Amino acid sequence: MTRILITGGSSGIGRALALAYAAEGADLVLFGRDAPRLAEAAQSCRDAGAKNVETHVADVRDREAMARLVKAADERAAIDLLVANAGVATGLSPGQILEDPDSVRAMMAINVNGVFNTVEPIIPAMCARGGGQIAIVGSMAGVRALPYSPSYCAAKSAVHMWADCLRGALPPYGVSVSLIVPGFVKTPMNAPLKAWQPGSISDVEAARIVKRGLDRRRGVIAFPYYMYAAMRLFSFLPAGIVDGVMRRFTVEVVETRERGESA
Ligand SMILES: NC(=O)c1ccc[n+]([C@@H]2O[C@H](COP(=O)([O-])OP(=O)(O)OC[C@H]3O[C@@H](n4cnc5c(N)ncnc54)[C@H](OP(=O)(O)O)[C@@H]3O)[C@@H](O)[C@H]2O)c1
Repeated sequence: MTRILITGGSSGIGRALALAYAAEGADLVLFGRDAPRLAEAAQSCRDAGAKNVETHVADVRDREAMARLVKAADERAAIDLLVANAGVATGLSPGQILEDPDSVRAMMAINVNGVFNTVEPIIPAMCARGGGQIAIVGSMAGVRALPYSPSYCAAKSAVHMWADCLRGALPPYGVSVSLIVPGFVKTPMNAPLKAWQPGSISDVEAARIVKRGLDRRRGVIAFPYYMYAAMRLFSFLPAGIVDGVMRRFTVEVVETRERGESA
């Protein structure tokens, strides 16, 4: 039986991924902040076939709590796969030139420090036992700059680079690392986004693709792949041309209401 820890297990991609593993009888450790939604996700996982589901209400910005809870979960029974998925989106609306500095800092604390706080506590334990798998959820926004999501792009490119570095460093210790790069996925996070969303898929379909990639221990799980290839190509083309094309799209990314750099 595989034991899997997922942050952001109460909603969207994290919840759908938990359900996909539940169908195989996994042992799940789900993290989230919204206790009722986390409890509902856990019950759905039990109904879907999970052998065991633990839930932990915690804010990923709380470094001390995350270290304590992740280590305790691993000591009860070794975590085989840890998925750092929790995150929030923020950005600009047409005509807006600057993101609210408080929302920028809150998002950075969740999307960057929250990933460190989730993954760091498991690395020594997995390396010591010579086995384990770590997955970090990035975004197409981490591949090439989008003018309407400046700080979100900065956060996701930071975790992309960190995941890429860990993927290079940890295999000698028996630990594999996967960077997950989703395109548009229909989730509560994405619902307020007003934009053309090519290749948009359901959270269930996203979870199926992510799980297949993780089962094969792929280093990068990017979907849809044509969008990933296009974003990679854009990053090689002259910046001014690509920026000019991107500005032609009308995009409204609602600013996050999250505040606070620590939980
Ligand atoms: N949807 C997309 O199109 C898309 C595309 C690319 C990348 N992504 C990435 O995919 C990941 C999941 O997003 P989603 O679309 O599934 O969004 P979602 O449905 O809004 O789910 C986000 C999850 O993150 C948790 N979370 C947020 N802030 C948290 C915090 N401070 N502490 C603990 N948990 C927190 C939420 O828990 P609570 O609600 O319980 O607080 C929720 O379970 C994110 O990292 C996102 O950046 C999504």
